[in-house]
Amino acid sequence: MLSGMYIHIPFCLNKCNYCDFLSFKSTVEEREKYVDAIISEINMYPKFPLETVYFGGGTPSLLTPEQVKRILSNLDIKEGAEVTLEVNPKTVDFEKFKLFKDAGINRVSIGIQSFNDEKLKMLGRLHSSSQGEEAFFLARKAGFENISLDLMFSLPNQSIDDLKDDLNHLFSLKPEHFSIYSLIWEEGTDFFAKLEAGVYKETENDLEASMYELIIDSAQKNGYIHYEISNFSLPGKRAIHNTKYWKNEEYLGIGIGASGYFENVRYKNVLKFPEYYGKILDNVKPILEEEFVNDDEKEIYEYILGLRIIPDGITPRGKYINLCDELVKDGFLVKNNSNYTLSQKGVLMANDVFDKFI
Ligand SMILES: C[S@@+](CC[C@H](N)C(=O)[O-])C[C@H]1O[C@@H](n2cnc3c(N)ncnc32)[C@H](O)[C@@H]1O
Ligand code: SF4
Repeated sequence: MLSGMYIHIPFCLNKCNYCDFLSFKSTVEEREKYVDAIISEINMYPKFPLETVYFGGGTPSLLTPEQVKRILSNLDIKEGAEVTLEVNPKTVDFEKFKLFKDAGINRVSIGIQSFNDEKLKMLGRLHSSSQGEEAFFLARKAGFENISLDLMFSLPNQSIDDLKDDLNHLFSLKPEHFSIYSLIWEEGTDFFAKLEAGVYKETENDLEASMYELIIDSAQKNGYIHYEISNFSLPGKRAIHNTKYWKNEEYLGIGIGASGYFENVRYKNVLKFPEYYGKILDNVKPILEEEFVNDDEKEIYEYILGLRIIPDGITPRGKYINLCDELVKDGFLVKNNSNYTLSQKGVLMANDVFDKFI
C-alpha cells in the first residue's frame, strides 16, 4: 500500500546561481495561503498510513514550525515514520530547530553545498561555511539524531584538493547521511549563461571521474556505505523516503510542481500559482500531466531505479536476464545467483547502463 508523501515548498530567500528547482521569493502571507492550499490538496486524497513524509523545495525551512505542524496534523503518520525537512542554513536557529522537532520532524537534510567560502559566494549561497557548519551543530543540539547534508562537486574551477577539503570537513561532522551531486548546468540559470559566455568551463570528464572516485573511496574509509549513485549513509541510516522512489513504490506528491505516483499513474502538478490555487478552489486535484504506467513500463522502471540502490540491485525476469548477462560480460554489472548489481565501472557509467533498458 502507498506509504510515502512528498510535499513541495516552492519558496527560497534567493535564487542560487546554479539552481532551476521550482522556487520563488515570497511574503509571509503567500506562504500562509500556500499552506492552506496544500492542506486542501492533501484532503483530496484518501488517508494512507504514512511511513515517510518529505518536505522538499525550495526551502521548506522557510515555513514556521506551526505551519509544518498544521500540515502534519492533517496526515495519518505511522509510529516510527521518517519525517524529513530540507533546511537552508540561512533560515534556522536553535529555537526553530527545536520547534520543528516538537512539530514532528525527525530528520533534517541541510543544504551545505560546500565548506569553501569562495565557492559558496560563486554559487550564490547566502550563508558562509561556518554558518553551514553551525546549522549542523544547532540541529544536533536541538536533538536531531538523523541528519543528512547536501553537497555538490565538479564546480567551476574546483580542484581535487578543494574537494578533499570539503570531504574532510564533511567527515569531521559525522552526519548520518549525505548526498553529493555533480553540478548539472541547467538552462536558464546564471551558471548556464556564464558557461555559454565562456566565463565558466565544464569540468573535464577525467577530472570529474577522479572526483567521484575520491568521494566513493574516502566515504568508505570513513564508514559510509555508498548505497545510491549520489547518496551515502552510516549503516542503517539510508533515506527511507527516497528509497521508496528507487524501489518503484507509489507515493503522493503534493504542492505546485510536485511529482507523484498513484494507482499506476505517474503525475506532475501544475507549475503556476494561479492555476494551482484555481484548481484547489474548484476542489480539483492540481494535476498538469499524467502517464499511465503499464506492466512492461513498470518492469523497466523497476530495473532502472532498482539498480541505483548499489548494494541491493535487481532480480530481472524474462528477456532482461539476457540483457543483464550481456552487461556482466561488458563489466557493468556483477551477478550473484539471480541478483545483479552495478560494478565499480557500472557505477561510474550508470546512465549508460540505464539507457540499455529503454
Ligand atoms: C531543494 S535543494 C535542498 C535544500 C535547500 N533548498 C538548500 O539548497 O539549502 C536540493 C539539493 O539539490 C542540489 N542541487 C540543486 N541544483 C543543482 C544543480 N544544478 N546541480 C547539482 N545539484 C543541484 C543541491 O545540493 C541542493 O541542496
Ligand atoms: S539550491 Fe536550494 S536554496 Fe538555492 S535556489 Fe535551489 S532550492 Fe533554493
